[in-house]
Amino acid sequence: MTTLPNLKHLPQHVAIIMDGNGRWAKQRGLPRLAGHKKGVNTAQKVVEIFFEYKIPHLTLYAFSTENWNRPKREIDGIFKILEERLEEGIKFAQENGIRIRHLGKPDGLPLRLQEKVKQALELTKNNSRMSVSLAFNYGGRDEIVEAARSLILGCISPQDVNEKLFSQYLYTADTPDPDLVIRTGGEMRLSNFLIWQSAYAEIYFTPVLWPDFAKKEIDKALIIYSQRQRRFGSLPPE
Ligand code: IPE
Ligand code: IPE
Ligand code: MG
Repeated sequence: MTTLPNLKHLPQHVAIIMDGNGRWAKQRGLPRLAGHKKGVNTAQKVVEIFFEYKIPHLTLYAFSTENWNRPKREIDGIFKILEERLEEGIKFAQENGIRIRHLGKPDGLPLRLQEKVKQALELTKNNSRMSVSLAFNYGGRDEIVEAARSLILGCISPQDVNEKLFSQYLYTADTPDPDLVIRTGGEMRLSNFLIWQSAYAEIYFTPVLWPDFAKKEIDKALIIYSQRQRRFGSLPPE
């Protein structure tokens, strides 16, 4: 049983940029794909911990629209690992009432992965204890452009367009904005991740490489989050 530190504020939605798989492998003289394999194990463990912590929304960034710039071998390998591991993910989700969502475009993904994703979304669509959103073939700018395109196609009149309506056209419609964005691997940037939704998220960077990310690191991030003061442009209470 995983115990949660006793904290004043807990985030309702945590979104994680899972970075550092390649460096983790390189440090061990292994091929980059070994890092991605290990990274998916970490992702599974992290989902289990957040589930036990009863944090209702978790988003994991697994492949960006810019990651298409990598060698084909690595891209094919990542998608194969995702496809294989989704099967286990669906099983865990079904046993625990977890809804799986996909953020990103299905187009361009290998057909078998598209099928697996469809199956995951369909099988888990009525689960409501927790939502786990997997962002792959995802880019924040692409998401915003697609939303604008849908608004235009839907002939929405300009005076009806506001932030609330626009949010409904994003992949994250029906999910609250992330309270906390964590990036592992030491880089301090968002790399096109949830750029609309993270407008007021607390951001936490850690040098720990994703395959090494574990309960201790989650607890550290949650403790730091609970000590932050969120003002949303207002003034701190007197
Ligand atoms: C993150 O790890 C996973 C993906 C972007 C697919 P990286 O593959 O970016 O690992 P580093 O940053 O090269 O170590
Ligand atoms: C961001 O990591 C994307 C994911 C973790 C899926 P990258 O390794 O692709 O980001 P950059 O290239 O360092 O910005
Ligand atoms: Mg990286």
